[in-house]
Amino acid sequence: MSEIKPVKPLLEALDGRVQSIPPVWLMRQAGRYLPEYQALRKRAGGFLKLCFTPELAAEATLQPVRRFGFDAAILFSDILVIPQALGQQVEFADGEGPRLEALADPASIERLRLQIEPAALAPVYETIRLVKQVLPPAVGLIGFCGAPWTVATYMVAGRAMEGQVPARRLALEDAATFGKLIDRLVTGSIEYLVQQFRAGVDAVQIFDTWAGVLGPHEFERWCIAPVQQICHGVRAQCPGARIIGFPRGAGTALSRYVEQVPVQAVSLDWTIDRSFARSQIPQIMTIQGNLDPMVLLAGGSALDREVEDILHCFADRPFIFNLGHGILPDTPVGHVERMLRRIRGADRA
Ligand code: CP3
Repeated sequence: MSEIKPVKPLLEALDGRVQSIPPVWLMRQAGRYLPEYQALRKRAGGFLKLCFTPELAAEATLQPVRRFGFDAAILFSDILVIPQALGQQVEFADGEGPRLEALADPASIERLRLQIEPAALAPVYETIRLVKQVLPPAVGLIGFCGAPWTVATYMVAGRAMEGQVPARRLALEDAATFGKLIDRLVTGSIEYLVQQFRAGVDAVQIFDTWAGVLGPHEFERWCIAPVQQICHGVRAQCPGARIIGFPRGAGTALSRYVEQVPVQAVSLDWTIDRSFARSQIPQIMTIQGNLDPMVLLAGGSALDREVEDILHCFADRPFIFNLGHGILPDTPVGHVERMLRRIRGADRA
């Protein structure tokens, strides 16, 4: 008897099929806006403890899917597990975000491992296996990593910093040393994503949150080239691997990104003009996005209007509804429900 595979709307969209109701998930859908996440986070103690305890990370992954019926779950982890697996110390101070031991000189970059420590990330793969066992069959599972440029900005500065100045400066003053860091991140990210696919994810997203601070030449070198290498490296081991790119803030450089980076889908931030995106992104490439997280937080008629505009603008394209960046912690849960009713037709005339 042949196995009947249930249709996953997420994969339909990634494979280029237009759907009357687009699949929907939200970046950072597991997080502090959910009371059940707050409770789980308290139970786990530290944030990294939550990431590295498979039973708890699986629960965090499933919470938003259970509550809202999203079409995809995203693995609960963080982009900064890769620096840790390369030998850098990473901590999350409560309410302050990440703290890393900054890579202040070339020697500290040379000291990083050339490959990721496999045992360090084993709990993440175990989380994927646990989620797969219980995820409803129509729901897709998305893995992820940070793009090398974005991860490097945290590694060099040791923390989030206005304008990502330390990494930008190092990339210009000592491109050879900075390139060694990027190379390690490319190699590590390929291995990490391949293992995520082997553990069972349906697709992965590469988050380049800080792509927008780069000038055109730097964008080519530190955003486009490394993500290209990751796509090729992953597909050499997992043919046909589905990859979503998110070059946040790319602006007009979006054209070059979609021309040169072989992703199936591109996730748009909310500052991109939707008709510009339509004209620049080839019809075969799936579009994801791009509701302004502040509009979701604000709710009301601004939310209704914006959801309608997005649905209308991308109705004739393979499309995944999402935010233009992560959900804000103060977002009322009721606004997410309102958005979903509108996308799925319950509130539409
Ligand atoms: O729900 C999901 O989207 C899956 C999990 C996920 C997290 N981080 C959990 C998280 C994903 C995909 C990320 C990606 C991530 N992490 C990015 C890229 C996307 C983006 O949002 O820009 C970046 C830059 C990071 C690094 C990071 N992690 C920062 C700067 C911070 C502190 C700021 C903040 O939002 O708290 C984190 C912490 C973090 N990662 C939290 C969560 C749920 C909050 C931690 C907590 O519980 O206090």
